[in-house]
Amino acid sequence: RIPVLLDGDPGHDDAIAWMLAATGLDIRGVSSAAGNQTIEKTTRNALRICTLLGIRAPVAMGLARPLLSEALTAPSVHGVSGLDGPALPEPDREAAPERAPEQMARLLRESAEPLTIVATAPLTNVAALLLAHPELKANIAGISLMGGGLAHGNWTPAAEFNILADPEAADVVFRSGLPITMAGLDVTEQALLYPEDFARIRAVGNPVAETVAGWLDFFFAFHRTKGYAGAPVHDAVAVCALLRPDLLRFEDWHVTVETQGAFCRGATAGDRRTAPNARVITGIDREGFAELLTEAVRTYG
Ligand code: BDR
Ligand code: CA
Repeated sequence: RIPVLLDGDPGHDDAIAWMLAATGLDIRGVSSAAGNQTIEKTTRNALRICTLLGIRAPVAMGLARPLLSEALTAPSVHGVSGLDGPALPEPDREAAPERAPEQMARLLRESAEPLTIVATAPLTNVAALLLAHPELKANIAGISLMGGGLAHGNWTPAAEFNILADPEAADVVFRSGLPITMAGLDVTEQALLYPEDFARIRAVGNPVAETVAGWLDFFFAFHRTKGYAGAPVHDAVAVCALLRPDLLRFEDWHVTVETQGAFCRGATAGDRRTAPNARVITGIDREGFAELLTEAVRTYG
């Protein structure tokens, strides 16, 4: 099992990504990020998700604000709680005493082998870790992240939400020299689950199945109004890249983050003339992905 640190802003698709992660990855630590909702709300959601899924790793609260920009949240997509929809259990523990970058640093230092960071939120915590502890890069095997898009954005014409919410943090990550796998909109908008898939998941019939189907119902209700034929389960692609890379198509690109532009702040530009710094995921076997998620739900018995 690949040892990982999960950093996300749950968030319906973060929650589904963590559900998948818990079935096949060795989760050493979990941290919340500000993004879809405030840090207080995403932390509470992270604790409740870990309670539901039986994830025993420590959960640390992330940084409250982006490195430089104003906070951006997404209540229209994820609701006022950041994870509206099905009822969730009360947390079975409190957040760890350390904040996210410090917990990540400690777990990296303590680990016998390098850890992979799965980042499915604005990259504030990850950038803070790299800025404060550059020597720990040697302990990071890679970063599998959901963010950006070479072709287009979703929050502005050019920018995807996770990058736009903290472009300076994304810039630090893409310039870090670490192996980066980028699950951007190029692939995640193909990673659709349709109502037939929700029904198949619900039919699995365990409590996790019912909750995941409820998350998909909520997530799709928003996306349907924007013309999507299904729910784009963006963040789960960053986990799929570690568990089932055979379901994905990868291309090497040099990705830079626009931190200045009046119209393009937060855009991720792909440049083929420069040596690659990222493996960008550009394609997915959608049916295989839907089946992977359904089978993951089944393992919760
Ligand atoms: C990303 O933004 C958030 O709303 C989702 O959780 C995902 O990480 C998609 O743009
Ligand atoms: Ca997310």
